[in-house]
Amino acid sequence: MFSPACARYFIAEAFVGDMIVVGGSSSRDLAKELASLLGCAYVQAATTRFPDGECYTRIDSPALEDDVVIVQNTYPDGNLIEMFLLQDAVKRMGAKSIVLVIPYFGYARQDRVFRPGEPESAKVMSQRLDMLADGVITVDIHKPDVLRFFTCPTRDLRAAGPIADYFSERGGIDIVLAPDLGAAGRAADVGTRMGKPHDYLEKVRISGTEVRVKPAEIDVAGKNILIVDDIIATGGTIIAATSQLKEEGAASVTVACTHGVFVSNALERLTGSLLDGVLCCNTLENEVSHISVAPIIADTLRSGL
Ligand code: R5P
Repeated sequence: MFSPACARYFIAEAFVGDMIVVGGSSSRDLAKELASLLGCAYVQAATTRFPDGECYTRIDSPALEDDVVIVQNTYPDGNLIEMFLLQDAVKRMGAKSIVLVIPYFGYARQDRVFRPGEPESAKVMSQRLDMLADGVITVDIHKPDVLRFFTCPTRDLRAAGPIADYFSERGGIDIVLAPDLGAAGRAADVGTRMGKPHDYLEKVRISGTEVRVKPAEIDVAGKNILIVDDIIATGGTIIAATSQLKEEGAASVTVACTHGVFVSNALERLTGSLLDGVLCCNTLENEVSHISVAPIIADTLRSGL
């Protein structure tokens, strides 16, 4: 049975009934949808910036003397600071326990010291978040190993299910591809759920100066391709893969990623490329984040970490 005394090892069935979802500024739509799926209260943090750029946030509610779920990204840095402030605010307002839902976990790529003199950035962020957390939920965190830095229970959820459901409902996909061997498991997961063949793109050296990518086994000629990846940042990986798949005769190429980071004008470059469709999950909210991860987060909160 959940109680503050056993907050770090809670059982979620007891937890859901008295839950309050607090939406940080990075994840308002996702937090609202989550509260609606769980049938619990939703409170939106009123977050603004002072003229010098510092974060101000306030939760306009008389008290939060329940089990609280904060939904907020830790990317970019301003959102990480807002998360720290929200953790303190909900604690002061009487939260019995605090679960952090971090849809896109920033700093997950910097999980070790690569060169002497560097900090262990993922550990620094995790340890500070852990100070006021009784549980942490992430979605397709870039390096799941990062979660070992938390002492509270953690769970990294896979967006493969929502992505597969989205495209199965709409149809029109023949093959699911990963942009590289490292993402082959994700393509296999999505492809298997959709009942479609899957493969990954491998680099083939054409000459001393030319390297191309092509599917390791499957012929893409005349096929409708779905490329799945965890992150799109500059879009460079996907744009290069798409033009080569089209050269090999692919009928269409659509990309779906979990986290649409889209640095600079990446989304414009992607939509202006040979791609036939760009979609991402709502871990980062933007104009193409139409695939919701709220149902898998709600299921996890219902069943426990
Ligand atoms: C790499 O490990 C990731 O899975 C993505 O493939 C990568 O971050 C994509 O980056 P970009 O969009 O800048 O090519």
